[in-house]
Amino acid sequence: MNRGKRITIGVTGASGAIYAQRLLQWLDASPEVERIDLVVTQAGVRVANEELGLNLAGTDGRVARELIGRDSEKIVPHSANDIGATIASGSYLSDAMVILPCSMGSLGAIASGVTRDLVHRAADVILKERRLLIIVPRETPLNEIHLENMLKLARMGVRIVPAMPSFYHFPKSIDDLIDHFCHRLLDHLGISHEQLTRWEGSRPARQRG
Ligand SMILES: Cc1cc2nc3c(=O)[nH]c(=O)nc-3n(C[C@H](O)[C@H](O)[C@H](O)COP(=O)(O)O)c2cc1C
Repeated sequence: MNRGKRITIGVTGASGAIYAQRLLQWLDASPEVERIDLVVTQAGVRVANEELGLNLAGTDGRVARELIGRDSEKIVPHSANDIGATIASGSYLSDAMVILPCSMGSLGAIASGVTRDLVHRAADVILKERRLLIIVPRETPLNEIHLENMLKLARMGVRIVPAMPSFYHFPKSIDDLIDHFCHRLLDHLGISHEQLTRWEGSRPARQRG
């Protein structure tokens, strides 16, 4: 089948809603992406409001406008309570799912197969269908339960991509840090982008300004 990618995005109540906002902007702008199924947990709504002043409650077009600043034909919001949504079934062809930021609560639920909401269920479906699941956990410090849950999922092929900013590309702003991280996620999703900050070997100090 020749179609664009369908990506599911789960946004949970860990700190770092800005990562989800920026990734959605990149995905919405990509001609390689056909559809983005979006689920924001109740705690995710709360944190996005606390951190960014966004109102992500509901499933109408306003959610996309809040996130990317305009209407989107690609972004399809689902209620976290809607366990009958398309992405709750393996027969719906979602190519990959990214959970970002992923709380330790949702990480634990997914690692133990407990599906309390649509984020957990959609992730469970991705796992049973052997598709690509990328989890962006955010917590510090990490306790043994967090680490064991990540190891368990990594052993199942889940890509654990912690929200840890890097500095080798000489970021000048928070946007630079967020974009660099989102570009790495696009690499994992196999979506092309104009990455301006790939490491190409060390540069002389005078070029780092
Ligand atoms: C402002 C704020 C920041 C939070 N940051 C984190 C965090 O970084 N990591 C985490 O695991 N939980 C964090 N929490 C707690 C989670 O939101 C909470 O455990 C919640 O039950 C997670 O539910 P969910 O996984 O359904 O979204 C935060 C809560 C608030 C209000």
